Amino acid sequence: MSSVFWHASSMTGARVLAQAGLMKWQAVLPILLLCACDGSPSGSDPTSIGSAEHPAIVAFWDAFHASDYAAIDGVIDGISAARALSPDDPDLEFFSAHAHLWRLAEWARAPERPEASQIAALREAVTGFRRAAQLRPDDARVPCWLGLLELQTGRQFADPELIAQGIANLEYTTAAFPEFGHFCEILAYWDQPRDSADFAKAVEAGWKSIDVCLEAPIDRNDPNVGPYLDQATQQGPRSVCWNGGAAPHNEEGYWLVMGDLFTRAGEAALARRMYNNAKARDSYLGWQFKGLLEDRLQRLDERMAAFTDTDTENDPELLPGNAGCVLCHAR
Ligand code: HEC
Repeated sequence: MSSVFWHASSMTGARVLAQAGLMKWQAVLPILLLCACDGSPSGSDPTSIGSAEHPAIVAFWDAFHASDYAAIDGVIDGISAARALSPDDPDLEFFSAHAHLWRLAEWARAPERPEASQIAALREAVTGFRRAAQLRPDDARVPCWLGLLELQTGRQFADPELIAQGIANLEYTTAAFPEFGHFCEILAYWDQPRDSADFAKAVEAGWKSIDVCLEAPIDRNDPNVGPYLDQATQQGPRSVCWNGGAAPHNEEGYWLVMGDLFTRAGEAALARRMYNNAKARDSYLGWQFKGLLEDRLQRLDERMAAFTDTDTENDPELLPGNAGCVLCHAR
């Protein structure tokens, strides 16, 4: 089964536990519980967070927006050097975690690297987001990224405590910042068994993720985004619903995810509508992954059959292992 942000098919739980020292991570769990449970959720405005003008962060964005994955090691070195000089800088910590996450999530772009460096990236990403959660307590998105990593790692190694921690963090984001959090919930549950309550949660999160972004709930029989395009905004919590500076093809990537979700759910007409929603805006024409989406549309019946038969080994991939981030973030 493919996980969302990282793919670890060749790892065995016991071996990785030993190598990655997951037991040690668990020693710091109470810190995160604070983050997940402290304070009452309030609306969050991501645009008000931090300045991203440090050269090491600029270098991250240059590489990320250009989908220049080959630059990732240099980007990480630059951020690490800057962190050594400013150890508690919230932005450096935040982008360090993301750089490691990018490295991990698109691992398929450089498959020749040793397994041990994948484990190192996983550790860096998790510990980085844990530090970012402490240093950027008002950024309600951080528990989402952290929670997804914890949940997937916990599942991979059958670690109930880590799973519970991940879920608590995800629930925090959903309560504090639903426009962002419902999307995180899709990624948390969409690869779970199709007949499970967890998968039903992913589908419901998909619907909610649309509704919280619009001024009125969408028609669940025909969720056409066309009439709502002019509600796009760059201000406030709903800015994360639309294309913007950080994620110039967020809408296209989002609808691809929704198409995949409803394909896996066995809902052909809804899946087709979701994929076609990606084409609603002209920015689709300049999106480098439109071939990927067209292919999913053309092979919808075939992909749905593979998802819905009893053999889970033949399930198609959900987020592509070579574009899980740049899908939305590349220019
Ligand atoms: C479905 C589209 C989508 C995918 C896939 C995606 N992101 Fe994002 N990302 C967003 C959106 C939307 C935001 C919020 C932008 C905002 O807050 O203004 C965001 C925010 C971010 C930010 C913070 C930007 C800032 O300055 O606050 C970083 C860094 C980031 N994503 C990295 C990643 C990485 C790494 C991956 C892959 C693991 C990834 N993203 C996958 C859409 C996406």
